[in-house]
Amino acid sequence: MVDDELVIRQILADFLTMEGYQVQTAEDGRAALEKLQTTSFDIVISDMKMPRMGGIELIETIRDRGVDVLTVIMTAYGTVETAIDAMKKGAYDYLLKPFKMEEVIRVVERGLQNRKLVRENMILRETIALYRATEEISTSLSLSEVLDQLMQTTLRETPADEVILHLTAEGGQVTLCTRVAREASRIAPEQLNLAALFAAHAGGQPVLANGDRCAPFLTEDAPEVTSLLSVPLRVPQRILGLITAVSLTPGNRFSEGQRKLLSLLGGRAAASVENIRLFENLQATFRETIQGFARALEAMDRYTAGHSDRVTRLSRMVALEMDLPLEDVEIITQAALMHDVGKIGCQANLNKPGKLSAEEYEIFKAHPTFGRQILEPISFLRPIVAGVVSHHERWDGSGYPEGLKGEEIPLAGRILAVADTYDAMTSNRAYRKALSHEVTMKEIRRCAGTQFDPAVVDAFERAIERYREECRQRGLPIPD
Ligand SMILES: [Fe+2]
Repeated sequence: MVDDELVIRQILADFLTMEGYQVQTAEDGRAALEKLQTTSFDIVISDMKMPRMGGIELIETIRDRGVDVLTVIMTAYGTVETAIDAMKKGAYDYLLKPFKMEEVIRVVERGLQNRKLVRENMILRETIALYRATEEISTSLSLSEVLDQLMQTTLRETPADEVILHLTAEGGQVTLCTRVAREASRIAPEQLNLAALFAAHAGGQPVLANGDRCAPFLTEDAPEVTSLLSVPLRVPQRILGLITAVSLTPGNRFSEGQRKLLSLLGGRAAASVENIRLFENLQATFRETIQGFARALEAMDRYTAGHSDRVTRLSRMVALEMDLPLEDVEIITQAALMHDVGKIGCQANLNKPGKLSAEEYEIFKAHPTFGRQILEPISFLRPIVAGVVSHHERWDGSGYPEGLKGEEIPLAGRILAVADTYDAMTSNRAYRKALSHEVTMKEIRRCAGTQFDPAVVDAFERAIERYREECRQRGLPIPD
């Protein structure tokens, strides 16, 4: 109840209190604004003419600051135009003085009813938003996608100016920090007091602070913050990180509903992050196990030790040289690491001194096929099977196991073939000494178009020359 005349505001306050409403009074616009900053109200009923700040200015300020309250203007000057002007500036309703008490009640009732509908609408909207957002978050299997969804949803559904996200390792050490801002960024992630936020979260409660109460969660050089909302990304037993929404706009405070929304989103995102980590861990474990087998196999023979790693490095260089999409570069790299994994299935000693017998050679030739049998049942390794199985095919169709020709041979296989041959020729073998780089390159060039894809040989030559030049410039030993 805002009026500079003590009698009027007192009478109205008493009357409305008797009707069961909770009322506070203020003597002018400025006093009203001070109260609005610390307490939330449903309706402000204000006089027009008051010292310091009048009714119209109060309504405009409330509108500009986005304070969540309905305003009703009282005017003693009888002109409907003034009231209409107030409505245009954002007033919800008006009362013309002198008024009957029933009119006041009617306006207040109508206002409260309106507030209730708006609030229910908002809850419905929040529920739909929440449903949509959690669906998006929980169907994604990429970490960056989940985090991006979480931050964008927070920006969309709350008055946040900035959203900052930290992921942490077991010891609380920050492993990833990412942010989005509605406009230009005004607060740096380092200006959040992470220790204080984590300490607050340890109690299990999200942090929602306004005005001066934000200070403990910020460093001293941080800009002035209107409202701060921080929620942990929690899975049972552990906090994976935290998401902090910051409003720097005066009047834009986070609501209780938004705190709940962010808590739910944070919980959903945390579960997704944990899932993704487990999934990636599982993949890595599989990959390491198989690489372990391949290396154990190499280690049994001193001549082939390190072969897979070198072929991997060479193949990757060629794939990058050929400007292949990064996804393909990864697949080729993995295929190279495991290209000879099928030798696990060959029970004969294939690296004995001297030539292999015809029977031993047949067994040896089965290793790409054994490779397929080992890798194919593991769904996420399936993309590398094509490269592994075809690394002994030849451009002219005289290779094995399928005798594929030209571009029928998967590109990964054509790249592996060159890298594999280069490393085999430049390494010592049980039956001969290592050949020099120059001799090997001459031989590979000679076989372009018969054994090898000429385009791959070109790329291989460029890549390896550049690599050797780099080694030379950096004073590293040039691999032979
Ligand atoms: Fe092989």
